[in-house]
Amino acid sequence: MDPALNPFKPGSGLRPPALEGRTRQREEFDLLVARSKNRIYDRGMVLSGLRGVGKTTLLNSLAEHAERQGWLAIGIEARPNEAGIAAVRAKLGNELASGLRRYSRRRRMQKVADELIALARGFTLGVGLGPAKVELALDRPAASGDIDIDLEELVEAISDAMKKDGTAFGLFIDEMQDLDSDLLGALLAVQHRASQREWPFFVIGAGLPSLPAVLAENRSYAERQFTYSTIGPLSPADAADALDVPVRNHGGSFTPEALEILVDASGGYPYFLQEFGKAVWNVAPRAPFDDEDAHIAVDEGRRALDDGFFPSRWNRSSERERRYLRAIADTGEDQPRSGRVAAAMGSTTTAVSDVRDSTIRKGLVWSPEHGRVAFTVPGMADFIRRQPTD
Ligand SMILES: Nc1ncnc2c1ncn2[C@@H]1O[C@H](COP(=O)(O)OP(=O)(O)OP(=O)(O)O)[C@@H](O)[C@H]1O
Ligand SMILES: [Mg+2]
Repeated sequence: MDPALNPFKPGSGLRPPALEGRTRQREEFDLLVARSKNRIYDRGMVLSGLRGVGKTTLLNSLAEHAERQGWLAIGIEARPNEAGIAAVRAKLGNELASGLRRYSRRRRMQKVADELIALARGFTLGVGLGPAKVELALDRPAASGDIDIDLEELVEAISDAMKKDGTAFGLFIDEMQDLDSDLLGALLAVQHRASQREWPFFVIGAGLPSLPAVLAENRSYAERQFTYSTIGPLSPADAADALDVPVRNHGGSFTPEALEILVDASGGYPYFLQEFGKAVWNVAPRAPFDDEDAHIAVDEGRRALDDGFFPSRWNRSSERERRYLRAIADTGEDQPRSGRVAAAMGSTTTAVSDVRDSTIRKGLVWSPEHGRVAFTVPGMADFIRRQPTD
């Protein structure tokens, strides 16, 4: 089929041609938005799951829905390292300022917005870029530089305006496990205060499976502060629709066997579905796509994954990290004990704890329970086993 018309989009957070499944999370969020219009404020939401399962896509679609419903919807993506921390804080202030500007144009509330924008800018200067040395031409003091105080002040002021306006302020945070603990702690504290004082402020977070534990470690009440939901692979029926609907929209079709082969090979993982969908479209000479097309597409799609999705993680690892990752893969278990992995490296758990931590920090590995490790990337163990040992 004509590659120029190929509807499939393997990528990061790219809106898929058909967003399948996720009905529960979307309905839950719709309800949260609907209730906020009646000034009834529920808890924020946390979405967690493996790499490529569709967290960013879902988070973006919730943020768009919120904005369409009149919310001030701000999106940021957290980053793991020191440079990332400053960048994320600066981004938060900047995104707030531009979000408020968009909001004020939509709602025609220029004056309020100007004051809030100045406050958001003060937050950027005071917290993001070191001490607030820059003079702000305002009749209010610049940010204090204490992140807890500044963030609370900012959120209170914004929520106040939103409440009067009958809308809400949603902060959509991707890769939330990577937020620095000061900003995370401040956000959790503000969200906590917001629900006690009935401010329309909601943190909607997405991240790796470790995210709920990261939140609970930072603030013990975080467990009760959000509705948590695990984003997993799509059911076979939804996975089939994720392939079939876009093809049908372009006048094509699959034989049932072809669809089954592709759904099986994908394990229901959205990223893999997009990759296999893209491949079958490109290799099939005509519709309907049959089982032969599907088999070729699975080979092609796997090759594409081996060239991009997996190496992008593997190549970022140091040699020692790769040895650790290989040791996990070699156990043949989904969630091996850390001790077993260390033993496979001819070492002890304590001696390899640094490399274990660094693979966790890089988001390649997580700990599903105390003393166990697992890959965050579906199919990573098989990929590693296919790599030549050096
Ligand atoms: N519900 C869905 N139905 C069909 N395709 C989807 C769905 N959700 C996501 N996708 C597609 O899957 C791919 C991965 O999605 P996304 O980047 O949102 O995953 P992620 O969980 O954020 O991954 P990462 O952990 O690497 O950031 C994208 O190409 C996207 O278009
Ligand atoms: Mg993502």
